[in-house]
Amino acid sequence: MRVLLIGSGGREHALAWKLKQSKLIAKLYTWPGSPSIDFLSERLSVPQSISKSDYLSVARVAHEAEIDLVVCGPETALAQGLANIMIDYGIPTFGPIKEAAELESSKAFAKEIMREGGIPTADFELATSEDSCREKAFKALQEKGAVVLKASGLAAGKGVFVCRSKDDIENGLSRLYSPAMKEASETVVIDDLLVGRECSYFALLGTNPKSASGRITPLGFAVDYKRLKDQDEGPNTGGMGGYCPVPWLPDNAADLVHEKILEPLLKVLDKRNLPYCGFIYVGIMWCSGGPRVFEFNVRLGDPETQSLVLRDHLDWLAIIADKLGLRPYPHLAPKIQAISGSQRSPNSSSGVEDAISARKVVSVVMASRGYPYGEGDENITPQTLPAALFEAGSSDIKVFGASLVKEGGRILTGKGRVLTVTGAGETFADARSRAYEKVKDISRSWTDAQWRSDIAQNL
Ligand code: AMP
Ligand code: GLY
Repeated sequence: MRVLLIGSGGREHALAWKLKQSKLIAKLYTWPGSPSIDFLSERLSVPQSISKSDYLSVARVAHEAEIDLVVCGPETALAQGLANIMIDYGIPTFGPIKEAAELESSKAFAKEIMREGGIPTADFELATSEDSCREKAFKALQEKGAVVLKASGLAAGKGVFVCRSKDDIENGLSRLYSPAMKEASETVVIDDLLVGRECSYFALLGTNPKSASGRITPLGFAVDYKRLKDQDEGPNTGGMGGYCPVPWLPDNAADLVHEKILEPLLKVLDKRNLPYCGFIYVGIMWCSGGPRVFEFNVRLGDPETQSLVLRDHLDWLAIIADKLGLRPYPHLAPKIQAISGSQRSPNSSSGVEDAISARKVVSVVMASRGYPYGEGDENITPQTLPAALFEAGSSDIKVFGASLVKEGGRILTGKGRVLTVTGAGETFADARSRAYEKVKDISRSWTDAQWRSDIAQNL
C-alpha cells in the first residue's frame, strides 16, 4: 500500500516508524513531514507555495501520487475537514470526518454525546455569554465548593480553569473572554470538579461491520506529565514525558472503559449517522467510582504515541486498513483480514494485557531552553544532532524528533519540544534507565536542553 501520513511532530515520527514496519507497506509518504521523518519516508511533492491548511491541494497531489490510504496525526487538520476532502477524492482516510471530529473541537458537543450515551463524565452546564457564565459559575462554586471552566473550542491546552474561589473565576473569565480566546469560548462548559487520578486510554475505532479486528482495537492506557518541571511544578506544556501501561489501575480497567465509554460512544455516533474511523484518545479521571471522561481527542497523544509504538507489537496498518473496510482494494482484502484478524479478538478488551506486549515503556521529552513560553527563547543557539540518532535505535530504545531544522546536510535543534527519548524494558526501572541513559548521552552535545528527571519514578 502507498500510505500518506499527515503531520510533522514526534507523534508522527513514531507513527511513521510503526507504519513502516507493516507487512503491507509499499511506500510511505508524509506531509508536511519533518527532518526526522525523512529518514523513514518521502515527502509528498506539494508545491512550496501551498499553505499548510490547503488540504484540497494536498488531496489533489495525493490522488496524482496514487495514495491508497491517508493516516492523519493532528486534530486541527481533522477539525478543518481533511478526511472529508480526501474521501471526496476517493482516498480512504484514517481520522474522522469534520462532523465527528467535533468530539474534540467542541467540548459542548462531546458533553452532549456523553449525556446521550450515559457515558460517565462531570455534571455540567453551558454558557454562551460572559455574564451568564459568571452567574452560573458563582452559583456552582457556592453549592459545590469548586468549578471548572472550559472553552468549548480548540484552545491548545490553554482553555481550562479549575476554580476554587470567586477570584479564580474572575481570572478564568478574563482569559476565556480575552480577544485571543474569544472564538474558542463562544460556548463555555461549566464542569463539576472531578477528583481522582488522570490517565488516558487509546484505541482504533472503525465503521466496517465485517472487520476482522472488530470495531474497537485497544492500544491501552498511558500517562502523560503535563507540567514542565519535576514534582509537577512549573507551567503546563504539551507533555514532557510519560509511561505505559498504567500499573496503578484496577485489573478490569480496560473492560470498564470499553463497556462504559467506547461502546456507548459508538452507539450514539451510529444513531446520529456519524461514521467514525480513526484513533480515539479518552482523557480519564479515575475516580473512586471508576472512570469519568473529561475529554475526547480524535487523535493519538504526543508523547503518549512514542511510548505506545514501542510497546505494541501489532501491525497497525493492517488494522487501519481493516477498520476502513478498504473496499476499493479487493486484491489486498484477504491479506489485510488475515493479518489484522489474527492479532486481537473482535470488540474485546479482555486480555488486553496479554494481547499487547507485557513490556513497560517510558518516554522523556527533551525541550529547548525557554519552552513553553512563546515558541521558546529567541536566543537559543541551535545545536547539531547526529543523524545516527534518528537512523539507529531498536525496539528497546528510540529517539523521535519533533522540532528540528535541516540546514545544509545538518540536523539542528529547533524551539519547543525537540526530541522524545523512549526506552522499553521488562520493568519500569529498566525502561527508565534506558531512556535516561540516552538523554544523558544526548545532553553532552546538546547542553541547552531541558527535561524532567522524574518520569515514571515511584509508580
Ligand atoms: P481538557 O482540555 O478537557 O483536556 O482539560 C485539561 C486538563 O484540565 C485535564 O488534563 C484535567 O487535568 C483538567 N480537567 C478538565 N476537566 C476537569 C474536571 N471536570 N475536573 C477536574 N479536572 C479537569
Ligand atoms: N500529551 C497530551 C496530548 O497529546 O494532548
